[in-house]
Amino acid sequence: MDISIPSVSPAAEALALRYGVAASPAVGPWNDHIALLLSHRSVRAYRPDALPHGTLETLVAAAQSAATSSNLQAWSVIAVTEPGKKAALAVVAANQKHIEQCPLFLIWVADISRNQRLAADSGVELATIPYQETFLVAAIDAALAAQNATVAAESLGLSCVYIGALRNNPSEVARIAGLPQGAFGLFGMCVGYAAGSGSEVKPRLPQDVVLHREVYDTTGEAARRTAYDGLMADFSARQEMAASTWTSRVIGRMGKLTAMAGRDKMVAALHAMGFGLK
Ligand SMILES: Cc1cc2nc3c(=O)[nH]c(=O)nc-3n(C[C@H](O)[C@H](O)[C@H](O)COP(=O)(O)O)c2cc1C
Repeated sequence: MDISIPSVSPAAEALALRYGVAASPAVGPWNDHIALLLSHRSVRAYRPDALPHGTLETLVAAAQSAATSSNLQAWSVIAVTEPGKKAALAVVAANQKHIEQCPLFLIWVADISRNQRLAADSGVELATIPYQETFLVAAIDAALAAQNATVAAESLGLSCVYIGALRNNPSEVARIAGLPQGAFGLFGMCVGYAAGSGSEVKPRLPQDVVLHREVYDTTGEAARRTAYDGLMADFSARQEMAASTWTSRVIGRMGKLTAMAGRDKMVAALHAMGFGLK
């Protein structure tokens, strides 16, 4: 009787970590870059070790290599390393300790101020400034740039975690970072070396839930969600967090305004910082 264990390819293993064995899609084209993307995990504990010289500039070069709407490049990033500044930003973000621990904290900024300065220097007014679309363009540009930086950092053996909780108090972030009107701190990002073994890859929804072929289709969604709830309950138990399903997480985060931690006032904050949302 053959009792050998069938060998599993690295690709199949990576897909199983991301989706669980039962919901893994078939292995398709694969390379080291894709393996890196699938190995992503947010890290919330950092060693104090400094980053190698030039790391910040490499991450920003990767960020600036992202696509940008009409090449408007409507984003900026603030690199924060001063302990006092990181401590003040941690206070804004509900005292998340990793903000103080990490050697580099990045604030990703939706920035239309630079293009407004360009217009002022050219003696023109930008008619599109008061529109929501302009904010969206800047926010999308900034998010794409930030994700490129994340992937670059992870490829260098560094870890990251995004910090959306900076939006709990946008005006305080603007004060700490010295942002001009027309510049909005969208989210932060811790960058550094993971302390300990880091966290596990967090499973995602089965592909059929997010991938719709030709038209949007919710057939089978509820059953797949139930299966994913089981996977996430196991994951949270393994991570020594309160066992919680994805369903309860979504309802907890989206079901009540208090979970927005002040971010329900975003329109007023954006107006105050020079973004119209017509
Ligand atoms: C825009 C954005 C904001 C986030 N804000 C926070 C945050 O404030 N604190 C935190 O611990 N994680 C934050 N995260 C990380 C998510 O919780 C994490 O990406 C998600 O749970 C999936 O886990 P994974 O990144 O390990 O796969 C944020 C992620 C994104 C994309």
